[in-house]
Amino acid sequence: MSQPSPAVQRRRMTVAVALILVLLAVAVVVVGAVSAGANGGAAGASASPTPTETPRPAPAEAAPPATVDTFDKAAHSLDDPMSIWVVVNKLRPMNPLDFEPEDLVFVPVEYTFEPYMRQEASDAVVAMFDAAESEADLFLASNSAFRSFGAQENIYDGDDLSTARPGFSEHQTGLTMDIGASSGECSIEQCFGDMPEGIWLRDNAYRFGFILRYPADKTAVTGYEWEPWHFRYVGIPLATEMHDRGITTLEEFFGLPPAPSYE
Ligand code: DAL
Ligand code: ZN
Repeated sequence: MSQPSPAVQRRRMTVAVALILVLLAVAVVVVGAVSAGANGGAAGASASPTPTETPRPAPAEAAPPATVDTFDKAAHSLDDPMSIWVVVNKLRPMNPLDFEPEDLVFVPVEYTFEPYMRQEASDAVVAMFDAAESEADLFLASNSAFRSFGAQENIYDGDDLSTARPGFSEHQTGLTMDIGASSGECSIEQCFGDMPEGIWLRDNAYRFGFILRYPADKTAVTGYEWEPWHFRYVGIPLATEMHDRGITTLEEFFGLPPAPSYE
């Protein structure tokens, strides 16, 4: 076979080189495209959160513990005249009507009329009077404590907004005291509520187991006008519970009907 001419050989060489160049160009384009695709994927991945960057939901606020009313409203009778929770009002007379507690003691505090109360209430009065003096330099006195059915007959003045009929007074329980300043100023008057002694008692009586039984805004519930001097012993647990919950009458606390009148 004869050798191609040099001209033919150069042409073939040129064609081969051209083919190689085309193939190289195609390869460059393909590799570039693949690389671009890979980069695009990487870019997309980098836009996505990495596991360590995964946003976590803000921790939920700790829910406040559900309020559980653990106070036992049945711990004492509301009807037994010897119960420290006995509720006496115009619809709930003493039973028997002429009831007298057996454990009355003389209350060793300053007084205008000799005060007698049940032992537990007497001890609480003494602690409260002592605290008023030591904590606030205030001096208190008793104006009236236990009143028998007969004593209430003498006191009842026909005004049902300010005095209870015999057999219907809390004073007959031996758990109640009308308290004043030892100076006698505003004694058994509403101005006592604005005196330091009246204010201190209003704010602190619960610590010793007493409630202000006839608040200014509760005449429709209790049946009596504001008596800032009349404190009823119910024991520290109940007085504290009522104070903390802002419930000021026994009727509302125990869900009893309001007693604005005798019928
Ligand atoms: N002053 C009160 C209501 C009473 O007589 O018992
Ligand atoms: Zn009273």
